Amino acid sequence: MMAKITFYGHSAFLVELDGKKILIDPYLSNPLSPVKPEDVKDVDLVVLTHGHGDHLGDAITILKNNKNAKIVAIYELANYVGEQIGDPSRAIGGNIGGPMLVDDLKIALTPATHSSPYGAPTGVVIIGKEATIYHAGDTGVTMDMKLIGELYKPDIALLPIGGHFTMDPVEAAKAVELIKPKVAIPMHWGTFPVLYGKPEEFKKLVEEKTPETKVIILQPGETYSYP
Ligand code: NI
Ligand code: MN
Repeated sequence: MMAKITFYGHSAFLVELDGKKILIDPYLSNPLSPVKPEDVKDVDLVVLTHGHGDHLGDAITILKNNKNAKIVAIYELANYVGEQIGDPSRAIGGNIGGPMLVDDLKIALTPATHSSPYGAPTGVVIIGKEATIYHAGDTGVTMDMKLIGELYKPDIALLPIGGHFTMDPVEAAKAVELIKPKVAIPMHWGTFPVLYGKPEEFKKLVEEKTPETKVIILQPGETYSYP
């Protein structure tokens, strides 16, 4: 069995893992997304790293259209979204460092050095049978990433590289050194002119410093299957 990861531009991904469809940070109205929020069907979970508009994105529209989908995020953000969709029973709010059991998956929120209007900003580790996937959210590089690498041994790390609000390719390559995932996929690049970091530069730096990690550059709409 294979896990599938489809990039929708910015930090938005569709993860198909253990038979579940999981949308992470579904800002599908971003200028590069090939999929519109109204087109999303049969999603099981929407996972949010923090409450900024480019991550909360179109979660509320998607959750209103997908009545069986649950929202997983830090407590304050999950509750906010639960209120906005008029159904708090679909909100699964946890906190950093306390893994949650959700539909046969384990989901752990991780520290992120950033800001957020609802609760603390986070990353997220999604642990399934087919793969363990770490989405770092918006963050700088932090020594917590070494711990995330040791504890969860992510197969795939989704890392922001655009700079200005998050790591650029230099910091993100350092993050790869700390996490040591099998595969690293850059995100949070190219959406807006202010995000100057280039995925090719990230790939070059990782190949120099951490050659055992494979960098996969996905263009919006492309899918990577693991293994
Ligand atoms: Ni942010
Ligand atoms: Mn962002």
